[in-house]
Amino acid sequence: MKRARSLAIVAAFFAVSALATPSDPRGWSPGTPAANSARVLEPLAQEVTLEFPSRFQKLITGPTVIVYFSPTCPHCQAVAPEINALSKRLGESATVIGVSTGGQSAVAMKEFVSEYRVPYKVIHDTDGEIAATLGVDSTPSVMLVVPDGEKVKVADYWYPYRHGFDTLVEMRALENPWEAFRPGEFHGDGACATCHLSEASSALLTHHSIAWATLVEKEEDQNPACTNCHVTGAGQPTGWDGSEGSHLVNVGCEACHGPGGPHDGARLDPRTTCSGCHDEKHSIAFSVEKGLPKIDHYRADAMDDNAFFEERRKLANGEVPRDLLAFSEGTNVGSAACVGCHSEEHGAWEASPHAKAMARLDATQSQDPTCVRCHATAERSGPPPATVAEFHTSESVGCESCHGPGEAHVKAGGGKGNIEGLGEDCPVCVLEAVCTSCHTPQWDPNWELEPMLEKIKHGKKP
Ligand code: HEC
Ligand code: HEC
Ligand code: HEC
Ligand code: HEC
Ligand code: HEC
Ligand code: HEC
Ligand code: HEC
Ligand code: HEC
Repeated sequence: MKRARSLAIVAAFFAVSALATPSDPRGWSPGTPAANSARVLEPLAQEVTLEFPSRFQKLITGPTVIVYFSPTCPHCQAVAPEINALSKRLGESATVIGVSTGGQSAVAMKEFVSEYRVPYKVIHDTDGEIAATLGVDSTPSVMLVVPDGEKVKVADYWYPYRHGFDTLVEMRALENPWEAFRPGEFHGDGACATCHLSEASSALLTHHSIAWATLVEKEEDQNPACTNCHVTGAGQPTGWDGSEGSHLVNVGCEACHGPGGPHDGARLDPRTTCSGCHDEKHSIAFSVEKGLPKIDHYRADAMDDNAFFEERRKLANGEVPRDLLAFSEGTNVGSAACVGCHSEEHGAWEASPHAKAMARLDATQSQDPTCVRCHATAERSGPPPATVAEFHTSESVGCESCHGPGEAHVKAGGGKGNIEGLGEDCPVCVLEAVCTSCHTPQWDPNWELEPMLEKIKHGKKP
């Protein structure tokens, strides 16, 4: 009795919330753009003053960016060029001073300065006193201070400092913070994330955020024919620099919103940018409308930390299936309609496990649409139907599960361009997407494209 009542309450709750929330035409969750802007734009909630050891204090004569680093820390080495550039850009607005950790020798510090051509003053925190005053325990970390009598006032701090935060340091140091976004310059998701935290968290749940790992998995991350569409700003002066360590690997905010988003003065309609990568060859039958609901910018808002990290872990492990975008909308006419013109392919297919996949399911399972969706071809392309009656169960996994709806092709009496060929010039992006829509990590954990393609060979070409 108790259970029935609570179910009724849940149902009522959903009914009400569905009414109360105006639905977003893009299929996105409700959310506020740039909800975390105050952290970057408004003064720190609490005023903090510090007093450094006098040998350091006397160096601070105006707004100063203190960069605390270790010469041997890989993160410090990775951001060194970015901080060099920042120090030049800041010019009169602020001075950069480096503080090298006392845990490393002065020799190591000098080597760092010469190897990374550090253009700003660097001092050695021999006794660790500066670190103690800064209150840091990891490198790199950055603090912006202004002189305040015998002490300094903290304007902001970035503990730890990450790739792309140069924009944020600059925003704080400049009189007009938005001038930190110079036209055409890429900043990386780290910079956007501080204000756009919801958007950035949600982006971490999309396959765009693992596009680079996808290439690494295929051992194609050094192949210039692949990298450009799986990173941000390829081929542009401040875009992806060709390295794996770049903060612009993966498809980030600026891949769709342009460098600096709208904040550099150039506003780009992100709906027009998809096709630069989702072209006809690599993302057959893609449309912005199909893709939009899957890049919900506020999806993470409704998740608690556990749910979020669990979803992110699954994505990073390749356990989150990709939705198949590749098929155009249409009717699957059934494999029997193909035999007349493609008897050879039909014969090969008939002998393959695909043609018998329904036989794997027992009487109960074959009435369960959640099993049938991968063991038989649906009557139409698109999201899997909810009832078994809407599948061609008698043919199991038929031609159109892989080649897409054949209605137009059959009506036209064959031909090209009205069905998916999947032949020689079909890129792995599409092939892999078609097969792994069923050969998911759950059902086929040892999936590998090449040997599996070999096993189902039936096309005319060798
Ligand atoms: C200092 C905070 C801050 C940073 C950093 C920041 N934004 Fe914004 N962004 C905002 C604010 C504030 C708005 C206006 C929000 C609104 O419309 O309610 C905004 C609006 C936007 C919009 C809305 C659409 C439009 O055309 O107006 C986009 C897209 C956007 N930002 C992208 C980015 C990207 C990409 C980055 C990183 C390169 C970035 N932002 C960095 C604060 C920031
Ligand atoms: C810089 C290139 C690039 C741009 C621009 C781009 N994408 Fe993608 N997109 C990719 C790549 C690469 C993948 C595959 C990533 C993977 O699975 O590793 C992908 C995958 C997807 C997926 C499937 C992932 C899933 O979670 O099911 C959708 C949906 C998608 N993109 C929508 C869009 C939309 C909508 C736009 C424009 C608003 C867009 N993309 C712009 C490169 C891009
Ligand atoms: C023109 C841009 C572009 C190029 C070049 C490109 N890709 Fe992709 N790739 C995409 C897009 C877009 C997607 C998402 C396709 C979709 O879901 O419709 C994708 C998806 C993928 C996927 C995931 C397929 C899945 O859903 O399981 C793999 C694997 C992949 N690409 C590998 C490669 C390799 C290897 C190369 C080089 C030989 C390459 N890509 C070159 C744009 C590109
Ligand atoms: C795959 C492409 C893509 C990526 C990556 C992407 N966006 Fe967007 N973004 C869009 C599209 C498309 C829209 C919707 C535009 C519209 O409604 O016309 C949008 C809208 C927005 C808006 C306006 C919000 C609203 O509610 O209308 C903001 C702000 C924004 N994006 C910020 C970001 C930030 C920050 C990142 C990175 C963390 C990011 N986007 C990554 C494509 C993308
Ligand atoms: C996402 C697609 C998908 C769904 C959903 C699915 N299967 Fe499968 N199934 C496959 C694939 C792919 C194989 C072949 C794996 C291989 O041989 O490498 C397979 C193989 C099988 C096999 C034979 C091999 C084995 O693992 O014993 C059985 C039995 C089976 N599935 C039963 C089921 C049942 C029962 C359900 C519903 C609970 C189901 N399947 C749902 C994709 C799916
Ligand atoms: C499991 C997925 C799958 C099924 C099912 C399937 N095919 Fe294919 N088909 C492919 C792939 C992948 C290729 C390209 C590689 C090759 O030549 O084997 C291909 C190639 C072809 C080609 C040659 C295309 C060219 O450009 O060379 C024809 C024709 C064809 N299939 C027809 C059929 C027919 C007819 C059926 C059903 C009787 C069928 N296929 C079932 C995946 C499939
Ligand atoms: C009336 C005869 C006819 C029927 C029926 C027919 N085809 Fe074809 N199909 C052809 C011809 C002819 C070609 C070769 C086009 C070319 O190479 O110029 C072809 C090409 C193809 C290709 C390769 C397309 C490409 O772009 O490379 C595939 C895949 C294919 N057919 C699958 C099917 C499937 C699946 C069915 C059943 C749903 C089917 N065909 C029914 C005649 C037919
Ligand atoms: C509609 C879902 C679906 C699609 C799409 C699909 N498969 Fe399958 N595949 C299955 C199922 C289910 C089985 C298990 C059949 C059985 O064992 O009875 C299977 C079995 C196989 C087998 C035999 C089992 C083995 O491990 O040797 C091969 C090979 C195979 N698939 C390759 C492919 C390739 C390559 C593609 C893409 C071109 C593909 N499949 C697309 C569902 C699918």
